[in-house]
Amino acid sequence: MEKVVSGIRPTGNLHLGNYFGAVKSFVKMQEEYDCMFFIADWHSLTTRPKPEDIQQSARIILAEYLACGIDPQKAPIYVQSDVKETLELYLFLNMNTYIGELGRVTTFKEKARQQPDNVNAGLFTYPTLMAADILQHRAKKVPVGKDQEQNMEMARKCARRFNHIYGVEFFPEPQNFYFSEKAVKVPGLDGSGKMGKSEGNCIYLHDDDKTISKKVMRAVTDMGPQTPNSPRPEVIENLFTFLRICSTEETFKFFDEKWNDCTLRYGDLKKQIAEDICKTVAPIRERITEYTSNTDLLDRIAREGAERARESALATLREVRKIIGFRS
Ligand code: ADP
Ligand code: TRP
Repeated sequence: MEKVVSGIRPTGNLHLGNYFGAVKSFVKMQEEYDCMFFIADWHSLTTRPKPEDIQQSARIILAEYLACGIDPQKAPIYVQSDVKETLELYLFLNMNTYIGELGRVTTFKEKARQQPDNVNAGLFTYPTLMAADILQHRAKKVPVGKDQEQNMEMARKCARRFNHIYGVEFFPEPQNFYFSEKAVKVPGLDGSGKMGKSEGNCIYLHDDDKTISKKVMRAVTDMGPQTPNSPRPEVIENLFTFLRICSTEETFKFFDEKWNDCTLRYGDLKKQIAEDICKTVAPIRERITEYTSNTDLLDRIAREGAERARESALATLREVRKIIGFRS
């Protein structure tokens, strides 16, 4: 069975963008592939989180992963920092990665602009740590959003270069993978392109119905359809995207027709969207509450996940050491 791996940084609670863009695919993929999912807590260090938050943030994401439907029997879930083997591979990969190519990564350039007084080596080598996360399991598929394409290209370069330098066919080149035909981008409700933590426009999986309703009702709109069958401006198309991902096809058609014959009232549309988002979120929210209060269970799942991840990483690392010339 093909191996799949993916991770999310524990920099805040999961929102609808994370769910529809990533975690929902994880849940589907665990049925068909040999999956592992992890919480990228080392990666979150590039922005210096508070020491007292580190373990709790990882637990929260773990509870949220489980609440979304990841089954640790099918797909182990682990915390990145529990698998120290990753660091050895990270070091080996760094030896074959050039500073020129790391400097060209857009996310690095962006972060360097955002935090000019803290352009650290961890930020610079973020892509090689990500490559180590993936290659240590010799994963072939990585479900991530479009924003991760450049990091994925670096992971493939690391695999190719290692194979080339040592004349082996050891690492497969990992491919970005979208479960649906196209990558889903969940828009913001504030008229901005993307729902994201740093955009501050998120509907969270732990939001209650009232909060969700309030956020949806505040969504940016315009004057309304003026001419029949006209294309929708971006802010309105964003609302329709929510219908596409959360509502039934009939509901989408109903509002699409109302747009086309200029009888659409945004209040009705928003009410429907809020209702359908609540339907998706409510059961997840209830399970988040259950899991969050069960720290023993969470810690056991993370421990078992780490054991399986270490086994897989160590098997790879033994071969890698041998290929490079060390004792395995
Ligand atoms: P955030 O943007 O909130 O900081 P991350 O960058 O940590 O979220 O992303 C974690 C995962 O969720 C990635 O695979 C990313 O592609 C996906 N993701 C985040 N926001 C969205 C969105 N609005 N639409 C689709 N996928 C998203
Ligand atoms: N860079 C990813 C993000 O910001 C998180 C991540 C770290 C990751 N290592 C990974 C994703 C390995 C997939 C595979 O979302």
